Amino acid sequence: MQVAKLVEELPPSGIRAFFDLVLGMKDVISLGVGEPDFVTPWNVREHAIYSLEQGYTSYTSNKGLPELRKDIAKFLKWRRGLEYDWDNEMLITVGVSEAMDLVFRAILNPGEKVLVHEPCFVAYAPLVKLAGGEPVAVITTAEEHFKVTPRKLEQAYTKGVKAMILNYPCNPTGTSYTRQELLGIARFAKKHDLLVISDEVYDELSYDFEHTPLASLPGMKERVIYLNGFSKAYAMTGFRLGWAAGPAKILAAMTKIHQYTIMCAPITSQMAAREAMRNGAKDVQAMVREYNRRRNFIVASLNELGLTCHMPQGAFYAFPSIKGLGISSLDFAKELLEREKVALVPGNAFGSQCSDHIRISYASSYDNLREAVARIKKYMEWRRGKK
Ligand SMILES: Cc1ncc(COP(=O)(O)O)c(C=O)c1O
Repeated sequence: MQVAKLVEELPPSGIRAFFDLVLGMKDVISLGVGEPDFVTPWNVREHAIYSLEQGYTSYTSNKGLPELRKDIAKFLKWRRGLEYDWDNEMLITVGVSEAMDLVFRAILNPGEKVLVHEPCFVAYAPLVKLAGGEPVAVITTAEEHFKVTPRKLEQAYTKGVKAMILNYPCNPTGTSYTRQELLGIARFAKKHDLLVISDEVYDELSYDFEHTPLASLPGMKERVIYLNGFSKAYAMTGFRLGWAAGPAKILAAMTKIHQYTIMCAPITSQMAAREAMRNGAKDVQAMVREYNRRRNFIVASLNELGLTCHMPQGAFYAFPSIKGLGISSLDFAKELLEREKVALVPGNAFGSQCSDHIRISYASSYDNLREAVARIKKYMEWRRGKK
């Protein structure tokens, strides 16, 4: 066999598999993809162009432009009350995706375990496995709004667990945590001496309360690897830029892998990100206001249609239940696509226990959402008549 067994056995992303069906279909309203429908703010794009005009086309330091790391450190201090040494505790990466891959490879010895909450972002478990580790599922439920709680963590905890992942606001559920709730999770992590990989890429897209970074809680900075980036808040997915901040020893290990595999994140993206850091706040606020308006509309509409949906507190996803319709989420998604040309993601892409949920991204225009709701209604009437 030419392909490594580990890779051969890895299932392809459930999102990709479904979206292969969408390719080539016309007039589809896609509520499937996890990226902003906004174009990157003009001042950020202009900075990227200007940097090219000025001839900034080289590699940067492996860790990323010192100026950008300083900007991020300053932002974290001012906005989040967190102090990081920009030179020893920070790394600029190719998206949070790369940072996540680096963390697991930097911390895991073969067979070591990582608690991964479900439902969750599709990449976590495969990346743990590729790094030689073993994901251990922490199953969260719709009844508890998909919250990770100390009780659920204790239930899943087993010998050999070295780290846990926390993503909030969460893809695909939109669930987030108050400071009080995070304190409970932090107590669990400290009790078992765990590293925590905290994916806070949607932090700016928080609608109901101020986002609290996990690393800002007492005794957590030394055990949290804090991941964030520019894709979601600044609508910069194509720039592929993220960062990691955390204990110097772990960041040095991540940087070692990064320097051999990536060398450095693209300089054009780093120059653009500097502008986003310095002058992006107003645009972020405007996008957040619009996402919030859409969130309120889509969640109310789904509940009216009988697709029970809790109110997501952040990100740009709704995760309603299709229980009672008598079909799996994959069949629901396929039928809806075929009959009414609305694309969304079946829940099973996000965890083994999620096949009675679907993920709807509301990073799509208000008009698109209104039309999608009308089409889903039509499909639901047909489906209920069929049952
Ligand atoms: C929870 C979560 N983490 C990480 C990523 C990857 O982000 P990036 O574009 O920074 O690689 C995504 C993208 O959808 C995500 O939803």
